[in-house]
Amino acid sequence: MTAIIPEDFSFAQRLPALPPLGAAQAASQANSIPLSFGAPHSDTFPYEALKEAAVEAILSQGRNALQYAGAGGPSSLLQWVANRSARRSIHVDASHVLLTYGSQQAIDYVARALLNPGDHVWLEAPTYFGAVSTFRTAEAVLTSFPIDADGLLVDEVEQALEQAAKNGRPIPKFIYVMPNFHNPGGVTLSLERRKQLAALAYQYNFFILEDDAYTELSFEGDPLPSLYSFAPLRVIHLSTFSKIVAPGIRLGWAIAAPDVIARINVFFQGSKASVFSQEIVAQLLQSFPFEEHLERSISLYRNNRDAMVAALAHYLGDDVSYNVPKGGFFIWLTFPEHIDTSKFVADANASGVSFIDGKQFFVRPEGHRHARLSFSYCNEEDIVRGVELFAKAYYTYIKNNKNGLA
Ligand SMILES: Cc1ncc(COP(=O)(O)O)c(C=O)c1O
Repeated sequence: MTAIIPEDFSFAQRLPALPPLGAAQAASQANSIPLSFGAPHSDTFPYEALKEAAVEAILSQGRNALQYAGAGGPSSLLQWVANRSARRSIHVDASHVLLTYGSQQAIDYVARALLNPGDHVWLEAPTYFGAVSTFRTAEAVLTSFPIDADGLLVDEVEQALEQAAKNGRPIPKFIYVMPNFHNPGGVTLSLERRKQLAALAYQYNFFILEDDAYTELSFEGDPLPSLYSFAPLRVIHLSTFSKIVAPGIRLGWAIAAPDVIARINVFFQGSKASVFSQEIVAQLLQSFPFEEHLERSISLYRNNRDAMVAALAHYLGDDVSYNVPKGGFFIWLTFPEHIDTSKFVADANASGVSFIDGKQFFVRPEGHRHARLSFSYCNEEDIVRGVELFAKAYYTYIKNNKNGLA
């Protein structure tokens, strides 16, 4: 028999042609200090407690812990999420909560439930590339609005909505926002802007996709009320166990009105987010001093942030500016206008540090003067050394290109 070699295959056009970024780069940058990774520090994983919880999940639930999940998940876990959300002024029962395979899956399912190809999604500039890739796959038309130290410029969004309504142009199906400790911006949306945006959602009848992955990792006090609390019929609130337990567990959640949850739920096609993970986390939260664990994690991240801020001051001084984040994982650097940070990514890598250049966080060709450094994954010593190497790569680029852009 002659072997038939198939011709080139035509893969789906809508797949975004994106390079792997952030944690997805782990393998390719094994020898660098990874200031590019937005991953949690593995010392924060409740390793021993998770081991016990995994055994307990099997002992207490038997083989059911290993089955497909027909129902919505262990009621104690749904209830924990509902109770915990009261800290963000979200007062709901378990019927408003859907557990997902990380919040990334929730972003995907929300996009599928809300969007037809060609629908409009508005988002922040900069924004989280994982979400952008999902919205592109859904064939959405993306429009971005700038952020400042208080988060999204809601006044600009309001003007654009007014114009769109006046001129018969499309209103977005939803606006994707990260209200707390923004990725990559590090900033938090002010209370006033939250109320303003929520009011606009009702007025113009769009959803807000509130991606609140980092809210528990606040270095200074309690979180502001969520966007959900101001517009519960038009906000889908997302959060995750990835940053407060471990991302390998792959558990996140969506909170929304029950009819919206039902719409998203259809995509599970009979099997829910991992039953075993759900049972383990349900066990963990029953017996485990969660507040102490969280305090320890916060303290580690606060120390890491302080180490990065001190190193930036030492190695780059006034040559770079940034807002000191009050929580989360990221510092967003702004260089002078003529700098293009993508021009020294490769050199930085070769000298032993990785970072993500600003352009990767925008849906339009902009962001060249920015860079994202993550202080979550590395220890303090590596953070300081990483910033030193980053600064060296920057000054070498400046020297070789005289003034920057080249
Ligand atoms: C803003 C934001 N949303 C969502 C996610 C996805 O998190 P997960 O799917 O692990 O819950 C991340 C991960 O880095 C993130 O930074």
